[in-house]
Amino acid sequence: MTYSTIIAPSVLSADFSRLGDEVEAVAAAGADWIHLDVMDGHFVPNITFGPPVIKAIRSRTDKVFDCHLMIAPADAYLAAFADAGCDTITVHAEAGPHLDRSLQTIRALGKKAGVSLNPATPETVIEYVLDRLDLVLLMTVNPGFGGQAFIPAVVEKVRRVKALVGGRAIDIEIDGGVTPKTAPLLTAAGANVLVAGSAVFTGGTKDIYRVNIDAIRRSADEARAAA
Ligand code: DX5
Ligand code: ZN
Repeated sequence: MTYSTIIAPSVLSADFSRLGDEVEAVAAAGADWIHLDVMDGHFVPNITFGPPVIKAIRSRTDKVFDCHLMIAPADAYLAAFADAGCDTITVHAEAGPHLDRSLQTIRALGKKAGVSLNPATPETVIEYVLDRLDLVLLMTVNPGFGGQAFIPAVVEKVRRVKALVGGRAIDIEIDGGVTPKTAPLLTAAGANVLVAGSAVFTGGTKDIYRVNIDAIRRSADEARAAA
């Protein structure tokens, strides 16, 4: 049995003036997925990038593009993110009134469908869409910025989501304040994918990114193996 945790560095903490090079570097350093934080200045108080930028960096790696949409509304833009080359598209449960429809739309575009929950959102919102989900993304910070403090109350929610998911093939991904210190709490509770921005993109070189990724993966895997 393997316990290898999927590590998804968030390019939010990369050097945007060299985004393509940064994606290549972090992929070469051992990233499993590339996490793309899309923000609209409306659903969250920050603005990042959209489909044209994702399309421009798509050719730099064949790693999974894990797209985290912090935008409202989302439905009108799903096709553009699919066309840009995203493999998984995650919408926030709080971003619109028709979560079931958004998830159906993403799957109809041939992409994996995810839902993200803010720290204060109860896990019960996924109860009736479980069979439409490939991924649940639990925020351990309030979305909008990198480098924020981890919110420990969410660890209990990870356990509850794991129980709700049961035997389904649904990834449980965590986003916000993930470090070698917090990673084991999350994987012990049932998470199998960890997003990390600032904990990966410090140091500025591929070799340091590798050290950073390895440190998170090692502590995460140890806790999964022991759980
Ligand atoms: C926050 C984003 C995260 C962010 C995480 O809204 O969704 O992906 O980049 O950054 P760190 O790992 O620095 O908390
Ligand atoms: Zn994110």
